[in-house]
Amino acid sequence: MKIRGAVKTAATLRPPAGGGAGAALAMRDVEVSLPSARGSLRILRGVTFTVGRGEVVAVAGESGSGKSTSILAALRLLPPGARVTGSIVLDGEDVLAMPRRGLRGLRAGRARLVFQDPWRALHPMKRIGAQLVESARTADPGLSAAAARELVEHTLAGVGIPDPPARMRSYPHEISGGQAQRIVIAMALVARPAVLLCDEPTTALDVTTQAQILELLRRLNRELGISIVIATHDLDVIADVADRLVVMYAGEVVEEGPTAEVLSAPRHPYTWSLLRAAPGAAEGGRLRAIEGRPPSPAEEPAGCAFAARCPSVHEICTTTRPEPRHVLPGRASACLRAEGYGPVPAGGGR
Ligand SMILES: Nc1ncnc2c1ncn2[C@@H]1O[C@H](COP(=O)(O)OP(=O)(O)OP(=O)(O)O)[C@@H](O)[C@H]1O
Ligand SMILES: [Mg+2]
Repeated sequence: MKIRGAVKTAATLRPPAGGGAGAALAMRDVEVSLPSARGSLRILRGVTFTVGRGEVVAVAGESGSGKSTSILAALRLLPPGARVTGSIVLDGEDVLAMPRRGLRGLRAGRARLVFQDPWRALHPMKRIGAQLVESARTADPGLSAAAARELVEHTLAGVGIPDPPARMRSYPHEISGGQAQRIVIAMALVARPAVLLCDEPTTALDVTTQAQILELLRRLNRELGISIVIATHDLDVIADVADRLVVMYAGEVVEEGPTAEVLSAPRHPYTWSLLRAAPGAAEGGRLRAIEGRPPSPAEEPAGCAFAARCPSVHEICTTTRPEPRHVLPGRASACLRAEGYGPVPAGGGR
């Protein structure tokens, strides 16, 4: 789908300032515990995945699987009292060892978060132009006010906002949800990020606008080389956008691989169950409900966290915790019986 009114991005947007050697994001064996009334809860249990430079990676899974926690951990934006172990390298920075000041700079510039709800990112009482100029100048304090305004104007044009000077004078309540999400993306782009971390960036939008925003993200990736992480519970929306897919379940990565391969021939029963043929599986492509529910963070299953809901569970699955392992080139699965899975039956899912 083409974005109506969009101007050629390369001509209007500046490429990222960051983007050194190494991966855009490397999470290694990341464990996150959050405090609760009933003690500390393990929310992420050994999460490992990498987002290569210039890649679009989708992190998918049911509600509560740990998608947002992974993204917030990557930016060290977890609530007070969170305990994080493992290693997180974001745009070349060791996030867990970084001083606060450095982290603030990283989040304002090279690694930007895009929320599900654009209204959360916009100040209701400030004009849109002023907010974007502030974003540009926080990331690059050397930028003059005039240069920042020019950058903002070009960026708004680049993300498909008609009549940018007029929009810059608007207040957030004067724009639609789709425009607000484009503006929030522009607010991130004026900081010239190397990495965009998007937490359900389209969930609040109607289907058409959703497709346009995803197409915009893809275009920013292709034309500017920005690395993008998209957390989503909607597999259909990322099929054409993400190069690779990371599937999470109960705070763990259960499957990873090139999107098309994972969707056509998953190697984990959780992914397989999500995609399996069933009446209504095609509607909207939402992750279908699987019978039962995932374990809560308070439960610590001895074996595989999916065992209780798994259609092909074996005795060993309830006693042995499976670690993710390479099952095919570029493909990882955390199922002891991963080799037993083949293509999703005809008519199933996609
Ligand atoms: N501040 C918190 N304190 C305690 N537990 C939390 C907190 N935030 C999240 N959790 C728990 O952590 C788990 C993972 O939550 P997270 O928000 O990362 O999931 P998600 O995959 O983003 O889900 P959704 O699709 O609903 O956004 C859930 O069980 C959730 O209840
Ligand atoms: Mg979430």
